[in-house]
Amino acid sequence: MNNKITGFVGSVLMLTVLTVNAQSLFNPATEAKITALIKKMTLDEKVGMLHANSSFTSGGVKRLGIPEMVTSDGPHGVRIEHGRGWTPLKNVNDAGTYLPTGNALAATWNPKLGYDFGAVLGSEAKFRGKDVILGPGINIIRSPLNGRNFEYQSEDPYLISQMAVGYIKGVQAQGVSASLKHFAANNEEVDRGTVNVEMSERALREIYLPGFEAAVKIGQVNTVMGAYNKFRGQYATENKYLINDILKGEWGFKGLVMSDWGAVHNTMEALENGTDLEMGSDIGTPPLKYDQFFMGDTVIALVKSGKVPVALVDDKVRRILRVMFKTNMIAAKRTPGAYNTKAHQQTALKVAEEGIVLLKNEDNVLPLAKSKIKSIAIIGQNANRENAMGGGSSQVKAKYEITPLQGIKNLVGGGISVQYAQGYKIARNQQADDTLIQEAVNIASKTDAAIIFCGWTHGYDYSKWDDNAYDAEGVDKPDMNMPFGQNELIKAVLKANPKTIIVLMGGGPIDVREWVGESKAIIEGWYPGMEGGTALAKIIFGEVNPSGKLPMTFPKKLEDSPAHKLGEFPGVNGTVHYKDDIFVGYRYFDTYNVEPQFPFGHGLSYTSFSYQNAVKKVTGDKQVSYSIDIKNTGKKDGAQVVQVYVEPINPLVSRPRKELKAFEKVFLKAGETKTVKFILNKDAFSYYDEKKKAWVADKGQYLIAVGNSSKDIQASGEVVF
Ligand code: NOJ
Repeated sequence: MNNKITGFVGSVLMLTVLTVNAQSLFNPATEAKITALIKKMTLDEKVGMLHANSSFTSGGVKRLGIPEMVTSDGPHGVRIEHGRGWTPLKNVNDAGTYLPTGNALAATWNPKLGYDFGAVLGSEAKFRGKDVILGPGINIIRSPLNGRNFEYQSEDPYLISQMAVGYIKGVQAQGVSASLKHFAANNEEVDRGTVNVEMSERALREIYLPGFEAAVKIGQVNTVMGAYNKFRGQYATENKYLINDILKGEWGFKGLVMSDWGAVHNTMEALENGTDLEMGSDIGTPPLKYDQFFMGDTVIALVKSGKVPVALVDDKVRRILRVMFKTNMIAAKRTPGAYNTKAHQQTALKVAEEGIVLLKNEDNVLPLAKSKIKSIAIIGQNANRENAMGGGSSQVKAKYEITPLQGIKNLVGGGISVQYAQGYKIARNQQADDTLIQEAVNIASKTDAAIIFCGWTHGYDYSKWDDNAYDAEGVDKPDMNMPFGQNELIKAVLKANPKTIIVLMGGGPIDVREWVGESKAIIEGWYPGMEGGTALAKIIFGEVNPSGKLPMTFPKKLEDSPAHKLGEFPGVNGTVHYKDDIFVGYRYFDTYNVEPQFPFGHGLSYTSFSYQNAVKKVTGDKQVSYSIDIKNTGKKDGAQVVQVYVEPINPLVSRPRKELKAFEKVFLKAGETKTVKFILNKDAFSYYDEKKKAWVADKGQYLIAVGNSSKDIQASGEVVF
């Protein structure tokens, strides 16, 4: 056997695999330059830098060569041009690369692709004259209902950490800044501007913060965006504990904290508790009077009257200048960046190909063989719908967008007759439409294969974001049920053709109980970006072997979801208590023995894999090294994500049954074997002890469980640690 050893991975080491050493924000030579510059500034000039001076820019100081800082959404593409206001500009070159959304990226389980994704964004942002791209969004997917889950990544902080670090390094390697959002505990939309989040310190430390911490400490992110919601009674953007104590204190963050748009509510709190830049505040009808922002003229008066020390203002200016120096905004030249290159479009394709998840495949219904089919029925409005402009602030004007219908037509060429039926109508409160269902059944009964594209929808665009939106900013889904009468459609079509392939589109879990037992093949397609239709077609016809894995659990029904079963969503009387605590996602399903519809980490392939020769060793310096051989035992090349979970056997405190602590995506040719090595250090065995205010790894027995998903453990062994 000729084994190839893949890179060492593990809770810490994996993060450094992507280095490309992230440049630090702090270096003494630059600090001296900043000090000199601040000395030359008047108070008015300093305060002018602490707030927006247009919809997406903050103030500069022209006479000193300090430019405005130009920001732009958003996580999966550079947003349409707004100029200085909010009305989209006409006749500008703002149709760019539209990447798959956050949870599709996370579903690749490939941090290298996170880097490539970030690099595309950074490069296009630079081309468009932006200094800061407002992403990644990494809030924990706590409930299936959050309207913004599609922008976020996962229910698991370790997976988020890996993907976010890659993304940030990719963006910032281009010489522009990422903005890590939304700090913190922004896990619902409907009342995001007012809701107060209450959770235990342990849940905060174990679940809601690790992604942010990794992004700051390892990703070296330049800017962080404060969230809209309150945390323990104080607005997150001006929250002393979150920003001053943890972010800037414990983690030593040296960069700039900006508000979400309109998230500042109080001048003194913002000044004292760590907000450096106030963006987007709504202070009346446009044109906005920017000097009337909370961090505008009031600050000048407060400093002049001696109520606020100028040093507080200087620290904020210093942080902004650090970011400006690091990204060559001052006295330096930037390279131009690139826009709409073939390589960028290929990255969009690659992420979609690796992120789409094969959820079910009985009787080898998939892949379809082109040679055996003369006709195919494509059903569902989602097959024929562009998504780039949907969802809210993350909207992108795509250079082009290949819908699933187009992707399939492109792939099959002229040899196969493609018939399309809309199947259902996307509109709020729309019930099943018998005529549309009948049309769909008719084409499905007359063709050799049928595919239904169904699931959620974004809503069309920002201005109409709430008329039919389920996955969108500012709204949460009302429930987990398939809207628009899709269940009736699917059941009717499955009767006509039991081998009908179901492709779910959207931002995550949906209730499929009404027909899941009848269906043989199900794919999760997410919002797969401008090349999504190409990627789906390639997977359906076997040109690409699927390798995506769910970054969140799909519960059978909403009531099974821990946020709803143990906790509250969206809250009671303006407060949401996260009584689900550390039991988020699979941590709950596994510990409480609740059977999910599809487990965290799940995703099938057209080939098969086996594991052998596990070797584990605890070394003196409290590290567990673990190696295992993985073999592609099938006939097709493919990739498997080797997932490593740590399971405390007799924990002294309440702990999740198991937690993901390392993973690696391994690409294997048919018949090939590779040895994967993991190193687990103390982090992998620790929990947060609230009394000690520290991470603790109790001495005891642990199971190292390795497998293809949180439920499909293929090899395991005990260690005493
Ligand atoms: C509000 C959103 O929450 C945030 O993610 C976005 O970056 C800003 N608006 C700017 O559009």
